[in-house]
Amino acid sequence: MINLGVLGSGKGSNLQAIIDAIEEKKVDARIGVVISDVEDSYILTRARNHDIDARFIAPGPYKTKLSSEVEQTYIQCLKEYNVDLICLAGFMRVIKEQFLEAFPHRIINIHPSLLPAFPGLCSWRQALDYGAKITGCTVHFVDNGVDTGPIIVQKQVPILTDDTYESLHARIQEKEHIAYPEAIDLIGKGRIEIVGRKVIVK
Ligand code: GRF
Repeated sequence: MINLGVLGSGKGSNLQAIIDAIEEKKVDARIGVVISDVEDSYILTRARNHDIDARFIAPGPYKTKLSSEVEQTYIQCLKEYNVDLICLAGFMRVIKEQFLEAFPHRIINIHPSLLPAFPGLCSWRQALDYGAKITGCTVHFVDNGVDTGPIIVQKQVPILTDDTYESLHARIQEKEHIAYPEAIDLIGKGRIEIVGRKVIVK
């Protein structure tokens, strides 16, 4: 059974979707630890509500990254829990080289657009403002770019003429909650092979 470490900074609805999929036996996995850089984030509460170890690890002085020392603390914690796969679920800091090297091809992320369109922040706003007709969500391996790693699963969401930022974001999140457990299940079953920048599903 694959052992997950989940990192998040916010409300943790994707963590909840992963927990629900595990409890409903749709995904053969366990969550060893949930770590957040935000002490009062709801993602930690959700973990504790399900008796999952939840750790706040202070992020240090920077806003969008962890210092090298703090990254080492995250890496050490994840290694102590023997995690096989790290799932970023709304973790608002970039993951640097040493973190990636500690877990090669073992860190995945969920992004609220159909990558490579609309990387970066608030992708649902970007898609609506751009006038796109279709957007969605992407689960991908993390590499040293921003939202650039090999794509595992994508789900489409149509953009409606009366959509607001909020309504579109809500429908994207519904699809995220299907896509993330699906991607974890594929990896857990050993059905994923990375060839160059392509992910082959076996
Ligand atoms: C999601 O929309 C995800 O795509 C982005 O951060 C958000 C996290 O939401 N990376 P939640 O905390 O899982 O509800």
